[in-house]
Amino acid sequence: MEQYAIKGGNPLVGEVEIGGAKNAALAILAAAVMTDETVYIENMPDVRDTNVLIQAMESIGVVVNRVDRHSVKINASQIHSLTIEDDFIKKIRASYYLLGALLGKYKKAEVTLPGGCNIGSRPIDQHIKGFEALGAKVTIDHGMIIAEAEELRGSHIYLDVVSVGATINIMMAAALAEGKTIIENAAKEPHIVDVANFLNSMGANIKGAGTDVIRIRGVKELHGTDYSIIPDQIEAGTFMMAAAATKGDVLIKNVIPKHLDSISAKLVEIGAYVEEFDDAVRVVSKERMKSTQIKTLPYPGFPTDMQPQMAVTLALSEGTSIISESIFENRFKYVDELSRMGAKIKVEGNTAIIDGVKSFAGANVVAPDLRAGAALVIAGLCANGVTLIDKIEYIQRGYEDFEGKLRSLGAEIEKVTSEKEIQKFKLRVG
Ligand code: EPZ
Repeated sequence: MEQYAIKGGNPLVGEVEIGGAKNAALAILAAAVMTDETVYIENMPDVRDTNVLIQAMESIGVVVNRVDRHSVKINASQIHSLTIEDDFIKKIRASYYLLGALLGKYKKAEVTLPGGCNIGSRPIDQHIKGFEALGAKVTIDHGMIIAEAEELRGSHIYLDVVSVGATINIMMAAALAEGKTIIENAAKEPHIVDVANFLNSMGANIKGAGTDVIRIRGVKELHGTDYSIIPDQIEAGTFMMAAAATKGDVLIKNVIPKHLDSISAKLVEIGAYVEEFDDAVRVVSKERMKSTQIKTLPYPGFPTDMQPQMAVTLALSEGTSIISESIFENRFKYVDELSRMGAKIKVEGNTAIIDGVKSFAGANVVAPDLRAGAALVIAGLCANGVTLIDKIEYIQRGYEDFEGKLRSLGAEIEKVTSEKEIQKFKLRVG
């Protein structure tokens, strides 16, 4: 078992480079199978989720050539199966992006029905609604979703909920449908725009991505392209929050400041200093943070993927803060773990009432999911004493070399795999 061992108390100081956006990369990797020509993708994060999706693609015959740690060449001209096996979906839900991509290109696809996960039930009814509107017949048989169509015809689709996944999946299928598709109430996240730009670079005709109405004019086929993925908004936000919570001074490089507006605004509101540059943001905090209210919303609102990290920062702030989680129904599982470190948080339904405390005490905690795991790392960086975090494989799903980047900012954090290594760490840090 791999754990993080963290000795808290060091303010984070220095510079850190942000990698490519995981949630853009997952959709773009899937979309790359929509052409028989070679696609070159760079600035891809080297994280567990993207590596599992690449394995899923290789399992159906996609040739993936790793040019370097962050670049791949993809050729999908020799696909020999349209069925994405169970174990890939069990590992990452985003394999379902292959549904929209394969349906668009081959008019057929079979993917294991993704289950719920640690933050909620995660239905995919809106994805299915979109595929059916385009003329596909979607059946669920023995836990598999089978989508097939004689042909796909453009349609006017109104999403009942703002869904990142449904917006992207429908956009991919519609890109190769006959005629015009309009997606209303579309999600507007930066990674939606990135996927639309990627598809357009392959010859698709997509307009309006980034607004709540996306217009797609289907084309006959897509061609190869070279593409670089946008920086990861949530990795950047996580380091911004860690800088503020540890009362540090960090320059977060290779970001698009506009994508971080809601996070920067909240950090300024609670007393941090945030300075924006063309492709970097600097976060400085010297005093104890103040309380505030947060409501997670679709972009450009405060991102649900930053909710746990914000909660940790507010749990150490002066006063009482309120966080309401409006996107997922079960995204406060980390609160029990934080309470073991001394946090005073009460969860009522989808609202957390946070009474700020002066400090945390190090403890043994378990990461319940990806972003909550990152939040527990921030808590460990602020705590007195040593914190051990178990199930860090969740964190490795979405953060490349998280401990290495934090160490470069002065954090005392190490990956440990045995009691002996834990003792060695404790002796070293004193
Ligand atoms: C994407 O998940 C991200 N994952 C999530 O990030 C992120 O939290 C979420 O968008 C919201 O921004 C990837 O991009 C791989 P949704 P997705 O469809 O697409 C409901 C992380 O930490 N809904 O926008 O699954 C759903 O239950 C992960 O990187 C339906 O009801 O999210 C939720 O309440 C965690 N029916 C809401 O919509 C549907 O068909 C938003 O979900 C689809 C969604």
